[in-house]
Amino acid sequence: MFLEERQKAILDYLDKHETGSVQHFSNIFNVSKETIRKDLSALAKQHFIIRCYGGAMILRHKLVSSIAHKENIASLLTRYKKQKTKKRGEKMNGNICILGSFNIDIVAQVSRFPKGGESILAQRSLIGPGGKGANQALAASHAEAKVHFVAKVGTDQFSQFAHNHLTLSKINSFTLYQSEKEPTGNAVIYVSEENGENMIAIYPGANLTITDEEIAMLESNLKQSDILLVQLENNIDAISNAVKLAKAVGVKVVLNPAPYSKDVIQLIPYIDIITPNETEASLMSGIEVNDLDSAKLAAEKIHSLGIQTVIITLGSKGSLIFDGKEHQHIKPFLAVSVDTTGAGDAFNGAFCASLAKGESLYQSATYASAFASLAVEREGASNMPSHQSVLQRMANK
Ligand code: ATP
Ligand code: RIB
Repeated sequence: MFLEERQKAILDYLDKHETGSVQHFSNIFNVSKETIRKDLSALAKQHFIIRCYGGAMILRHKLVSSIAHKENIASLLTRYKKQKTKKRGEKMNGNICILGSFNIDIVAQVSRFPKGGESILAQRSLIGPGGKGANQALAASHAEAKVHFVAKVGTDQFSQFAHNHLTLSKINSFTLYQSEKEPTGNAVIYVSEENGENMIAIYPGANLTITDEEIAMLESNLKQSDILLVQLENNIDAISNAVKLAKAVGVKVVLNPAPYSKDVIQLIPYIDIITPNETEASLMSGIEVNDLDSAKLAAEKIHSLGIQTVIITLGSKGSLIFDGKEHQHIKPFLAVSVDTTGAGDAFNGAFCASLAKGESLYQSATYASAFASLAVEREGASNMPSHQSVLQRMANK
């Protein structure tokens, strides 16, 4: 067995059993204890495991302030000479890697949005976890995918908050890098009681400081994933290298182009599925999307830019899939809208979870639609429903 294969097998074992001894690995792989110790040291340097007496244990939740073993992203990408594509029918295992943002959301629930220069009293206020990446990771884990989440926070008190939040969640594993210079990102959100609509100002902070070496560290996790899901709340060079690496190792790439940036154009060659909302689809296609017909035209335009599958989310009007051949409208599930913040995140996380479990585009978007309809009935962008309640809603339709 080759070194790389053996180290992967050790990781798989530890993922299943949490701990393992040098003696045990030496027996099952039929190599010396010294060889196993070297393997474990290499895996520990990459922050996958921690060494403990006589063996090692899996490290699922990492707060990383500096990387010991630095891999050069350019040479890593050239090592994979050409892009691999998953063969048709190749088994999907329900594994998703999500690179994205973590923000502290400061939410004020108001009876209506204030006008410029006006101060109004909020009805309620809450401070909690958010960020499109973290919300989507949470949604995918509630939808019962095995999620590895990667984000970057500051060294302030919110980094510990992020670590605690993610550790207590259903997310299988995560790596939180830390920036010495920038604080943890935050978002100031108004939610109107009139209709559950929101207004958001985001300060990305550490989310925009992901380095090439931190992206290179994704290699092993990507190799075990069926899908990489990204959004646009991180620095574009990091997102760009992540999608290139994903394609190079044969992983499907889903881009939620939110919040919209013209930089999306450079990502197109590496994207399999794009999921804009109405605003993002309008900006990307130059066609104003306000109903199903205009959404169809915009989807065709976006497809013609070079993306195989376009899914436009249409809020309470549901969503539209275009795969280059036909349009499919996913009707919305009826919901009592309380807070639409994070509806798109709920949709994206649930959609990828379903797709990673081998469901079709149509089935996955239908599941995501039911999932998101439950999410808009809950307060807070990261407040996701359970898989069981989604199945119940689908059965009741
Ligand atoms: P946000 O930016 O607020 O997180 P978004 O604009 O990215 O959301 P939307 O298109 O508003 O995303 O919503 C995503 C999906 O959520 C929709 O395609 C739909 O399935 C579901 N959804 C949103 N609003 C409602 C609603 N009022 N009733 C039922 N389903 C909804
Ligand atoms: O999509 C909702 C999210 O957008 C919020 O949690 C906020 O942090 C911003 O990133």
